[in-house]
Amino acid sequence: MRRVADSLPIAVLVSGTGTNLQALLDTVHGSEAQIVAVASSIADVPALARAAERDVPSAVFTRGDYPDRAARDDALADWLDERGARLVVLAGYMELLGSAFLRRFPGAVINVHPSLLPAFAGIRAVAQALEYGVAVFGVTVHFVDDGVDTGPVIMQRAVELPYARDEDEVLRALRPLEHALLPEAVRMFARRELVIDPSDPRHPRRGPTPVPDTSADWPTGLRARRSASDAGEG
Ligand code: GRF
Repeated sequence: MRRVADSLPIAVLVSGTGTNLQALLDTVHGSEAQIVAVASSIADVPALARAAERDVPSAVFTRGDYPDRAARDDALADWLDERGARLVVLAGYMELLGSAFLRRFPGAVINVHPSLLPAFAGIRAVAQALEYGVAVFGVTVHFVDDGVDTGPVIMQRAVELPYARDEDEVLRALRPLEHALLPEAVRMFARRELVIDPSDPRHPRRGPTPVPDTSADWPTGLRARRSASDAGEG
């Protein structure tokens, strides 16, 4: 049986309802992964109640509480680091993260987006797709980079909805796809099967061959982060 000590410590960033957080709590939490922190950009959202229900520590980092976004990002990264997070999962997090934050968790920030990227990046993805008139909708789990929903794709799944006209109807159809794909991406990362190859960064390694475990850490873990912050880049 898998020991909890083998679990990947992850942080989940939220801004609202938290159904993707719930999917992670109901699947990987306590087995392949341990959710060690939930951070929200907005106070009193249902996602925070979901964390409390499972005794997962949570905190709120609103932009208004800091002089600028960089200061907010620093405080957030410090807290996630203190909690020991090795993977940061954006699950309905409605804020952009700056490159200084991303350098603190290199190759270890992932997001779930309700469209088949690169179509319909950014906010109102489903509304954009409906306005365009697509017949196939879908979801993407991807690594986060400096752009808006531009990082390397990890997984995508599509659903045909040729008669859809209503945003809520499409979101309802996409939810189960998100709730399957996001935990699966976390599982792959925890098994060291999901890594960005610097020589081919658009095609992350997502195979069943784990990266050799030479450091007793996850592939993009502490050593890279420490060298970045030692150099004053964090
Ligand atoms: C999801 O549709 C996700 O794709 C998008 O924000 C929504 C979050 O939903 N990024 P929830 O808060 O997880 O229920």
